[in-house]
Amino acid sequence: MKTLHVTIPEREYDIHIEKGILDRGGEFIKTVFQGEKIAVVTDSNVGPLYMNRLRESLTVAGFQVCEIVIPAGESSKCKEQLFRLYEEMLSFGITRGDLVVALGGGVVGDLTGYAAATLFRGIPYVQIPTTLLAQVDSSVGGKVAINLPKGKNLVGAFYQPKMVLIDTDCLITLSERVLADGMAEVIKYGAIFRKDLLDTLTQITEKKELFAKIEEIVYTCCDCKRQVVERDELDNGERMLLNFGHTFGHAIEKQYHYETYTHGEGVAAGMVIAAEHGERQGITQKGTASRLEELLKQYGLPTRIPMTKEAMEDAIQVDKKGQGNILHLVLLEELGKARLVKTQRSNLWI
Ligand code: GLY
Repeated sequence: MKTLHVTIPEREYDIHIEKGILDRGGEFIKTVFQGEKIAVVTDSNVGPLYMNRLRESLTVAGFQVCEIVIPAGESSKCKEQLFRLYEEMLSFGITRGDLVVALGGGVVGDLTGYAAATLFRGIPYVQIPTTLLAQVDSSVGGKVAINLPKGKNLVGAFYQPKMVLIDTDCLITLSERVLADGMAEVIKYGAIFRKDLLDTLTQITEKKELFAKIEEIVYTCCDCKRQVVERDELDNGERMLLNFGHTFGHAIEKQYHYETYTHGEGVAAGMVIAAEHGERQGITQKGTASRLEELLKQYGLPTRIPMTKEAMEDAIQVDKKGQGNILHLVLLEELGKARLVKTQRSNLWI
C-alpha cells in the first residue's frame, strides 16, 4: 500500500492507494470516524459493480449504512440531485457527527462533496474514487461543486475530505475511452511537473504494462497534486498550473455542448494548442508540442479537434478564470516545467 499525507493546517488527511482496498474500506474509515451512520453516494454504473463489497466491509466494521444511487452522468451534478441527497440523508437521520462517502467518479465526488460541505454547514466525508480521472485529480484537493445551466462547477466550495481511498483495481472495469479520459490528466501532471513520468508513459506499449505500473503512476500524480494543494489550497497561484490545457479544453467541451468530447479529450487537444502557442511565443522549447502530441495519441487521445479561432475565442470569453480580456494561460517552458503567463485574448494566435 502507498500512503500520502496531505497537510493543510487543521485539515490533514491521508490518501491510501492499494489494489483491493475497497474491501478494507470499513477498517480504514474506522481510523478517522468513530460515529455510527454512513451515507454512501454512488451512481447507477458504479453501484452495481462495487457497492456490495463496500457495504459488506462497512457493516462488518459496525457501521449503519444508507445507500443513495444517482443516475450516472454529468447531468446529475445539478441542484435537483443535490436536494435529493439532502432529503435522503435527512431521512436516514444523519447528523453533523456522521459521515458521507462518495463512491464513484468525478460527478459523484463533486456532488457528494458539495452536499457534505453544505448540509448542516459541513459533515465529514470520504472519497473513494473509481475512475482514473477522479483518482488522480478530482478526489484530491477538496474542490467540490455542482453545475448550473449557465456553466460547469459554478456553485462550489473548497472542502477537504477526511480520507481518500484509491483502489486501482476499480480501473480494470473502465472502458478504453474513460481510461483515456484519465490518462489525459496523468499526462498533464507529467507535462507540468514530472518529465520522468512522461518517459515512463512513453515506454509503455500495452495496457497490461500500464496496469502493472498503475499504482505507482496514480501515486505520482496524487503526490504532485498534494504538493500543489498544500502550497495553494484556495487556487490563487500555483494551483492554477493544474489547468494546463484546460482553458482551450473547456472551450472545446463547451463548443461541442459537453456531448462530443470528454473532459480529458478536450484537455488533450487543449494541451497541444497551449504548447504550440508557447512555442510561437518563444516560451516553450521547440519540439515540445509534437512530443506531447505523440504521447497523447499513444494513449488514444485526440490532439486536433475542429474549431475555428473565432469560436475558440468566444468560448474562452466565458471561462471563469478569465479577467476581461486577459487570460491566465498555463504554458510550458519545457516538458516537466510550467508557468503562468498573462495573455491578451487577441494574442492567442500570434
Ligand atoms: N482540478 C484542478 C484542481 O483541483 O485545482
